Amino acid sequence: MYYPDELVEEIRTKNDIVDVISGYVRLQKKGSSHFGLCPFHNEKSPSFSVSQSKQMFYCFGCGAGGNVFTFVMEYENYSFQEAVQSLAKRAGVALPDEEQGDEARRRDGKRAKLLAINKEAARYFYYQLRTGNGQAGYEYLRSRQLSDETIKKFGLGFANMTGNDLVRYLKSKGYEDALVQEAGLAAFDEKHGMHDKFWNRVMFPIQDVNHRVIGFGGRVMGDGKPKYLNSPETMIFDKSRNLYGLNLARSSRKNQIILCEGYMDVIAMHQAGFTQAAASLGTAFTEGQASLLRRYVQEVVLAYDSDGAGIRAALRAIGILREAGLTGKVLNMEPYKDPDEFIKNRGREAFEERIEGAENTFFFELRMLQREYDLEDPEAKTRFHRVIAKKLCGFSEEVERENYIQAAADRYQIGFQNLRKLVYSYASQTGLAKPIDRPKSGIRKKDTPEEGRRRSQRFLLTWLVEEPSLYAKIKKYITPEDFTEELYKRIAKKLFEDLEGGVVNPASIISLFSDEEEQRRAAEVFNTRLKEISGNKEREKAFHDIILAVKRNSYEHFSSQLGSDVAALSQVIAGKKALEELSKTHISLD
Ligand code: UTP
Ligand code: MN
Repeated sequence: MYYPDELVEEIRTKNDIVDVISGYVRLQKKGSSHFGLCPFHNEKSPSFSVSQSKQMFYCFGCGAGGNVFTFVMEYENYSFQEAVQSLAKRAGVALPDEEQGDEARRRDGKRAKLLAINKEAARYFYYQLRTGNGQAGYEYLRSRQLSDETIKKFGLGFANMTGNDLVRYLKSKGYEDALVQEAGLAAFDEKHGMHDKFWNRVMFPIQDVNHRVIGFGGRVMGDGKPKYLNSPETMIFDKSRNLYGLNLARSSRKNQIILCEGYMDVIAMHQAGFTQAAASLGTAFTEGQASLLRRYVQEVVLAYDSDGAGIRAALRAIGILREAGLTGKVLNMEPYKDPDEFIKNRGREAFEERIEGAENTFFFELRMLQREYDLEDPEAKTRFHRVIAKKLCGFSEEVERENYIQAAADRYQIGFQNLRKLVYSYASQTGLAKPIDRPKSGIRKKDTPEEGRRRSQRFLLTWLVEEPSLYAKIKKYITPEDFTEELYKRIAKKLFEDLEGGVVNPASIISLFSDEEEQRRAAEVFNTRLKEISGNKEREKAFHDIILAVKRNSYEHFSSQLGSDVAALSQVIAGKKALEELSKTHISLD
């Protein structure tokens, strides 16, 4: 689906970015910007800024940034089109029918209906729990020591013994059978007709991060099978991209998420004050869930069951967390099976201590591996040491690797130098691990020549945005073609056009890109803080250096294409002339 630029721009201008973001983040005005705690990474002091005049946001901590569309895309996990639609609705801008194709409209309608029917079902279950029909469920929950307040907070309910009362209820509310089936709330067969999928179970509504009910988990009363029955995946219920309890955990303002296996664990933890707990949905932890978590925290503590299956699941999750650039830790619950049991038996202080003592994932992995080796046997012990050395090759950063070599040597009483030698001999065979790409971290990448080139192009754009009057002085020398970085070239084209017209509009430039990552990089251009250079002369020199660097890079770029590209020749000739002239020209910043 494609919306014309003018329409996108109209929708953008009708949604003031400060208004929109204020609906999600508490902002405070400071100087010309509004500041708040960044919703895309965890922080204690605000580095997330929203500029009313630029109609853009930018986080100085993690580098997230863009216009109002970018924000909604990142926050709600929407595509560009979905963000446009949602903001159009907010501002009351009608989207042309032919633009929103039949198929898309049907899907949107279907999503909304599925959300509505789930909400209705949750309401019904909730109500049932509080009637005579639901007494067994209510007593069960109380017997598991849940307070009324907790039961309410999680919206727990009951699906009673009758085979089709929910079906009847939803019908009375006007929902069609087909939709009830599609939502996974009922099934049809010849013998029973339409019948409820959940019965005789306490019901856990599963909510997405925006508190919308997207599915259910139901626990059977007594020992029936399966113990937990979950809604099937639907258009609105993607088990690999949601986590139970995250809607609450994400605003707990702890610096971590505790990830556990079960619904009851999450609830028990929240009740005990550990409001940072969440769980996957009866399936293994996924990459999609890791990247969801990365929006909110940097650290994830695994509180999986302490049985064999739980350990295997933890080992798998550790790899996924590492790939996502998250710090992992493993919580030891022994001698109990899960957080729920632990808290019941030992109480919250003891659990708090276990969180503080949670084990580094690397040592957890080693400890699990160690169980396969008999360290009394020199042969086995040597093999184990080799395994340690191989694993140590996985640390890409030297300081970190050396620290871990030291720590592992201490822990397993291996000579430091011996272990180190072993590590580097493996490394020379297989190579050290590549650094993990951490796209959203604020860590500055090492300056490669490539990055140097990009930076001067970016700085030039930034400078022009901040001091539009300079454009007149440089347009003789610099054209959009001089920006060899594709993204910057597109920005320059639009920016130069705007500058010709006399009005710069950064937020609209960002809408040129429909990809989130591109929007981020474009936003960076408008938010790079040029180092405060004092002194007019120094500033002039810095500006001159930047122009020269951009021009020289462009000249070299086109020169290298000579022979294969005719158009390059004229660029090169013009570039050479401009370079010579530039190096002799004084550009005043006044
Ligand atoms: P557990 O069986 O460990 O859950 O399953 P639990 O919370 O300890 O159960 P209680 O305390 O006896 O009530 C952990 C999770 O695995 C999924 C559910 O998501 C559950 O919360 N599960 C378990 C299923 O999906 N189906 C099952 O039959 C069992
Ligand atoms: Mn349990």
